[in-house]
Amino acid sequence: MSQELKKVTTHTLLNLKKRGVKISMITAYDFSFAKIFDRAGIDVILVGDSASNVMAGNETTVTITLEQMIYHAQCVRKAVERCLMVVDLPFGSYQSNADVALASAIRVMKESGAHAIKMEGGAEIAESIKRIVDAGIPVMGHLGLTPQSIYKFGTYAVRAKDEAEAEKLQSDALLLEKAGCFAIVLEKIPALLANTVSKTLEIPTIGIGAGKDCDGQVLVMHDLLGINQEFKPRFIRQYLNLESSIHQAIKQYIGDIKSLDFPNKSESY
Ligand code: KIV
Repeated sequence: MSQELKKVTTHTLLNLKKRGVKISMITAYDFSFAKIFDRAGIDVILVGDSASNVMAGNETTVTITLEQMIYHAQCVRKAVERCLMVVDLPFGSYQSNADVALASAIRVMKESGAHAIKMEGGAEIAESIKRIVDAGIPVMGHLGLTPQSIYKFGTYAVRAKDEAEAEKLQSDALLLEKAGCFAIVLEKIPALLANTVSKTLEIPTIGIGAGKDCDGQVLVMHDLLGINQEFKPRFIRQYLNLESSIHQAIKQYIGDIKSLDFPNKSESY
């Protein structure tokens, strides 16, 4: 196997941090896109519960089920050859207690073939994370803006701007590292705080709206590719305008059918 095709593991991510090489992560929810991302050399694919928004059209991530997450994870897994594949445990599948959390994590791993799971929260889920890690399942943490708690916070605004919340986030990050997480997503927090957390932890931080000093970056594929033009917070860098390209292509397709241009002779048998 060539060096380039070497599979990415949780240990690879730790090594990347040690060597000062940034980690690339993107979400995916289906076979076709996951295949493109894996072949392009992405380090980590996250089957995010943002599937609830971008795939199912729900208002929040709260409503997606464990079964639906497993379905998306199964589709992505078939495309993954090289990168590390992480799957979000959805809301309701781990918050009640460590037994429930472990059972959900085992279902994801067994039924989808994922390499790791991700969970939102700090001290309140540290015991569950430890149980899951002790069972041999790698866990990625997620602090800062945690969309599964949207109804508790009432807003998607930047988190941990005040001292008390920033201190809690720092102590949560240390707790998650101690509980055995192999990496932590930091979502929508001040860049300075993300810098401090990233320097304090041995495990890598993956930022989304958390500045340049995180050990890696993640974006939702629909945001990066410009599939959804209605959602444009400042932390998104849009690399394509797929919504417009697809719109144009479909308009042309419709026109070609109506004008009897498609199919032509060479496109027929
Ligand atoms: O579900 C998701 O897409 C995520 C990323 C925003 C990190 O959790």
